[in-house]
Amino acid sequence: MQELALHILDLFRNAVEAGARTVHVAVREDRTSDRLQIEVRDDGRGMTPDQVRTACDPFFTTRSTRRVGMGLALLQAAAEQAGGGLGIESTPGGGTRVVATFQLGHLDRAPLGDMAATLEVMAAEAGVQVEYEHWLDGRVFRFSTRELEERLGAEARGDPAVLTWVERHIREGEEALRSPVREYCKGVDAR
Ligand SMILES: Nc1ncnc2c1ncn2[C@@H]1O[C@H](COP(=O)(O)OP(=O)(O)O)[C@@H](O)[C@H]1O
Ligand SMILES: [Mg+2]
Repeated sequence: MQELALHILDLFRNAVEAGARTVHVAVREDRTSDRLQIEVRDDGRGMTPDQVRTACDPFFTTRSTRRVGMGLALLQAAAEQAGGGLGIESTPGGGTRVVATFQLGHLDRAPLGDMAATLEVMAAEAGVQVEYEHWLDGRVFRFSTRELEERLGAEARGDPAVLTWVERHIREGEEALRSPVREYCKGVDAR
């Protein structure tokens, strides 16, 4: 069972290979409806309807460095075995949107895995902006390479110290998302 973060990285690679300038990555977990949705949206070259139809075929790939493409087919299998499925919306020149859904609590749902390490790899990809959001019920954690560049300059993104900071920042953000909400009412000491 492959961690879903590795599938997300594969979707990101597809977007980069399609010439995307901005890639939106959204993870939406909702415990009330018991759904997990992963969405990766890019502004790359897109696909024709025929290309979309064949994209999930494990023996189809447009790249030459590996004989068979397994990325989308594997993700589709992972989603289907966890009570969900895979959807692709794409138009030539109009970018691509891939949405994988899962039953959140399904026994065969792969764990999300290491989003901090995954986003560190994505952030190292120069020239591509990454917009990440992770929803858990009503709460959200967001990370944007564009904001990072605005603060530190575009060239700082390749700096190993910056990438280490990115990894830690995301790890902390993801942990905060999972920790219970503490609300303090005025005049009440909740400790
Ligand atoms: N985001 C995308 N934009 C344009 N084409 C895509 C995108 N994702 C997938 N494709 C097309 O679908 C094919 C299959 O993708 P995938 O299953 O990940 O295998 P691989 O990346 O190994 O080729 C790719 O070779 C490419 O032609
Ligand atoms: Mg791929």
